Amino acid sequence: MNFLWGAATSSHQIEGYNTGNDWWAWEQTGAIDRKEVSGPATDHRNRFREDLGLAKELGLNSYRLSIEWSRIEPEEGRWDSQALEWYAEVLAECERLSLLPMVTLHHFTSPLWFAEQGDFTSELSYHKFANYVRKIVKTLGNRIPLWCTFNEPVIMCVGKYLAGFQPPAIYDPSNCSKMFRGILKSHVRAYDLIHSEMPHRRGPWRHHPLMVGYAHNMMDFVPARHWHPMERFLTFVGRSFYNQSWLDATTGKPHKFGITGLVPTAPEVKEALGRVTTDFIGINYYSKAIMRWRAKGEHFETSPGFPFGVGFGDPGQPVSEMGWGFHPEGLRRMIRFAQAYGLPLFITENGIADGPDRYRSEYVRDHLRVVAAEIAQGTDIRGYFYWSLLDNFEWVKGFLPRFGLIEVNYDTFKRTPRPSFYELQKIISLHQQGHSAPSGKLLK
Ligand code: FCB
Repeated sequence: MNFLWGAATSSHQIEGYNTGNDWWAWEQTGAIDRKEVSGPATDHRNRFREDLGLAKELGLNSYRLSIEWSRIEPEEGRWDSQALEWYAEVLAECERLSLLPMVTLHHFTSPLWFAEQGDFTSELSYHKFANYVRKIVKTLGNRIPLWCTFNEPVIMCVGKYLAGFQPPAIYDPSNCSKMFRGILKSHVRAYDLIHSEMPHRRGPWRHHPLMVGYAHNMMDFVPARHWHPMERFLTFVGRSFYNQSWLDATTGKPHKFGITGLVPTAPEVKEALGRVTTDFIGINYYSKAIMRWRAKGEHFETSPGFPFGVGFGDPGQPVSEMGWGFHPEGLRRMIRFAQAYGLPLFITENGIADGPDRYRSEYVRDHLRVVAAEIAQGTDIRGYFYWSLLDNFEWVKGFLPRFGLIEVNYDTFKRTPRPSFYELQKIISLHQQGHSAPSGKLLK
């Protein structure tokens, strides 16, 4: 299998008018920075051919996208064939352009009807998610070689029920644990279902091994002050609760999701124990997470229930439009941590919000260098997906952070590749037009 040179997107962030999900409803309450709403987003729904054409021009051989459940099943049990047809067209275009698709089934957004029933905190959620997954397998499955069931399960638990940056943004540690359990159960069910019910695969990817995994956010946790016992403890908590628990849970081990005194331990999911329920580990990596006891000030994000803050960049160092510093060394540490599980790895997301495109080329090169060095050491890394192909709706931060290799003008929807687009294009073409894996020599 060739190394996958890809870029990633998600449905709600680019398509426009995904009116039937929990994010859309939350946006209408003024929850997003500057009271923005996703609205038409990047109008990708009407411009996907242009966007995929640009991905091809960049030299990519793969593309990570997500399917919007609320469009496929706008009301419980009612399926929208037009919505399915649109995704079939997108996948057909990927085939035509030789862009191997990695498809995420759930990227943060849930249908409103499902969210109103308690989202993944509800006992029956796995069953409802499975109905949707079965539908996708039956209608589009023969065109999808690579699957991510969920994007960033742990972020969803934290964002929704601890830190308030995802709907319903309610501080409720016990729901945080229920959410973890519900997502895990849904993941395992989906994993089994995709493997057991996959129709005969056809098209250009039919010989590609069917792989089902997820995209897991990992951060390089470090104490703000090395001597500080509480900060060392928080670092340990970050590593085990945030980075490790999901990896343990999907490789058959008891997990560590819970924080003594703050978040109840999530009960084990018996279907997940004693077996590996993922074919790869997808790492979404952006930055370090600096743990600071009794944090104050602009460098740390705090939330009301917690006696500490988290910083994503070092004071005095350059940061992105998200306030995140640049720390490629952390990617190395995350790769090493994940590779100990013995599964193939993908870097399913890595990128920088940088409208002026001042740092992006260097950022990509530095992180690819790390990937190259780890591959040279024998680590099985199968692909690198830059986040994101184009500027998009960055969740609670709205349209301000610009992650795109391609700039989007939000008045006209005109697409303009940034200089870093051409830099990455050069890098890919040096690697035998994307036929070979990143190599340190070619990334000098
Ligand atoms: C990740 C999300 C993705 C995007 C990037 C910046 O956490 O998966 O949708 O928002 O961060």
